[in-house]
Amino acid sequence: MSVPKTIHWGILATGEIATTFTKDLLASPTTRDVTAITHTVVAAASSSSKSRAEYFLRQCNCPSTANAYGSYEELVHDPDVDIVYIATPHSHHYQNAMLALEAGKNVLCEKAFTVNAAQAKKLVDKAREKNVFLMEAVWTRYFPICVYLRQVIESGTIGPVARVMADLSVALSPEKSFADGKHRMVNPNLAGGALLDLGVYSLNWIFQTLYYLQPPETRKPQVIGALKMYDATGSADETASIVLTFPRPQSAGGDAHAIATASMRVATPPGDRENIPCVRIQGLKGEIQIFNAVRPTRFRLVLVDGTVEDQAWPQPGPGEGSGWYNGFNGKKHAEGEGQGMFWEADEAAFALVEGRKEGRYLGLEESIRIMEVMDEIRRQAGLRYPDKIETTDFPVNL
Ligand SMILES: NC(=O)c1ccc[n+]([C@@H]2O[C@H](COP(=O)([O-])OP(=O)(O)OC[C@H]3O[C@@H](n4cnc5c(N)ncnc54)[C@H](OP(=O)(O)O)[C@@H]3O)[C@@H](O)[C@H]2O)c1
Repeated sequence: MSVPKTIHWGILATGEIATTFTKDLLASPTTRDVTAITHTVVAAASSSSKSRAEYFLRQCNCPSTANAYGSYEELVHDPDVDIVYIATPHSHHYQNAMLALEAGKNVLCEKAFTVNAAQAKKLVDKAREKNVFLMEAVWTRYFPICVYLRQVIESGTIGPVARVMADLSVALSPEKSFADGKHRMVNPNLAGGALLDLGVYSLNWIFQTLYYLQPPETRKPQVIGALKMYDATGSADETASIVLTFPRPQSAGGDAHAIATASMRVATPPGDRENIPCVRIQGLKGEIQIFNAVRPTRFRLVLVDGTVEDQAWPQPGPGEGSGWYNGFNGKKHAEGEGQGMFWEADEAAFALVEGRKEGRYLGLEESIRIMEVMDEIRRQAGLRYPDKIETTDFPVNL
């Protein structure tokens, strides 16, 4: 067996998702049957202090040789870093990603990619100019269950897709959870709101079934949307509802409809119940149901002939007895079970090894199109964030 190629990561920001991602990154790829690449963390940076970065590296069990930086500038100029993972609030993605791209680094940038499509286009142009890899970290798109889902659709099992409904709603009790209005979910200065944080997942389920799988000429959805504002902070939405029409020729089944919804007021399954699908992909011969829009582990096929098939897609990891735990935001999975963020990291690593400049399952044009849809919803609803985070100027001190 040949020696795996090691990818050297630099972690930009040290918050919740940076911690979850970095722990997953360091779980051995062999636990998911990946042998050609492996990952290590060579540096992390915190905008608050070097000691915060040192704490982060220890907390994530990174190699003791990894560098801790008290500024993002130092991280992107570290010659040992192959790729920078950006884990700041979306308000900061444009500035942080541009900083890394300008320094000639490959970039994996958290969702939502940017605040608006103009920023996304500028990042893509810069990545192409510098000939480096750039990908939006919509981790769910890289799960094996999603690869399988797309294969089932392509096989024609459910017939031409006529309608997709996708919801990511989590009742967060924002007045209690984010009482001071400063949290990134509700803070307009951090591009807060349900649309950019949660709606981007709902849109990704629709795009991976009705955009990614369609010929280019049908990839132009018409969009109608509504946002309900979160009263306490005004310029951030608490609920987003979007209707998309994908024009298709009659030979491909005619127009397809999609409904994407997101909310931080109500939940997709009230009380965390497990039997309420949050994604339904409906064709003429049946439908596919998914039961978690962010970290799906269950797949149900329901055909008009009465067939019902359930499949479990558990997340791998170091396994029972390893003493290893991961999770997000205080939640812990079973011992040895990963969050599932390693799939997108593997994809980025394979792209670097193969010399590809974008991801296979979510390309840069598609990330731009999704930002354009969210721009259009915000335009229709009159939601604009402060100029300093909507701008394409660089650098801007946020
Ligand atoms: N893929 C997923 O499952 C997932 C889940 C949650 C969030 N996300 C995305 O990841 C990003 C970060 O979310 P998070 O939950 O990790 O947020 P978080 O816990 O608040 O962490 C964000 C980090 O960004 C840095 N930062 C720099 N400037 C900041 C500012 N003005 N205000 C707040 N933080 C600032 C801070 O790190 P330093 O002090 O170290 O610089 C902070 O710890 C968001 O874009 C979000 O959409 C993705």
